[in-house]
Amino acid sequence: MTKQIKKCLFPAAGYGTRFLPATKAIPKEMLPVLTKPLLQYGIEEAIEAGMSTMAIVTGRGKRSIEDHFDISYELEHQIKDTPKEHYLTEIRSVINKCTFSYTRQVEMKGLGHAILTGKTLIGDEPFAVILADDLCDNDSKAVLTQMTEIYEKHPDCCIVAIEEIPKEHTNKYGVIAGEEIESNLFKVNNMVEKPDPKDAPSNLAIIGRYILTPEIFDVIEQTPPGKGGEIQITDALLTLAKQGKVLAYKFDGKRFDCGSVDGFVEATNYFYEKQNK
Ligand code: UTP
Repeated sequence: MTKQIKKCLFPAAGYGTRFLPATKAIPKEMLPVLTKPLLQYGIEEAIEAGMSTMAIVTGRGKRSIEDHFDISYELEHQIKDTPKEHYLTEIRSVINKCTFSYTRQVEMKGLGHAILTGKTLIGDEPFAVILADDLCDNDSKAVLTQMTEIYEKHPDCCIVAIEEIPKEHTNKYGVIAGEEIESNLFKVNNMVEKPDPKDAPSNLAIIGRYILTPEIFDVIEQTPPGKGGEIQITDALLTLAKQGKVLAYKFDGKRFDCGSVDGFVEATNYFYEKQNK
């Protein structure tokens, strides 16, 4: 029987340099779209997909993440039985539905390395990964829910979420090539981290949602630094793709690159309009 995925890993140790100076003392993952930090959107998506253990890889200066997913007794006391109490309803519900564990990535050696750092929180089981700065929204099933359904049918495979991008943007993403085995589902046979448009194998870009089998940890350990001198999850996944063990799923829904100012503003406008409809 397929092992149900209960854990979701959130690599959140990056410097967020594109958001300086805002990210000097505030983690990028805590920047709010409307009133909710990016990371809370990601955690709500993981809860919706049936996960209950949130494993967060943090770094220096990220303590506000731990404080956010904890009870603030002083605040609770201040607003108890006042008309403002409802403002805490959503975050209270998140805190009640799952447990949180943290580990620190001491040196920022790339996303692959951040995921390997999370091994101590995940253990020997399949898990999901959400990059909270890729904010996804759906009117129906959340992206991670769609991916867990695919994983149930392909339990030996890692799954990456992909989206079509303009070819001139390939140098910002991991890009895959593969054979479409069913509608919107590709068996990956090549993947390249941030290729120049002229070298990109397609315009199908990996976005910040993954389902990984635990064998990825051993593979990352064997993966040398790649693009930018960082240990890239794309390079580690290529090893498994060559063994026919990586699927790419063109998800249904919207995704905003909130790691960039343009994407962040777009997401803010979108959620504001949605809320006021
Ligand atoms: P990004 O490259 O988008 O994040 O990494 P960044 O480095 O924080 O942003 P910029 O480019 O400087 O503005 C994608 C995700 O991987 C995490 C980041 O926190 C982000 O969620 N990450 C990246 C780590 O946790 N550790 C790393 O060493 C690198």
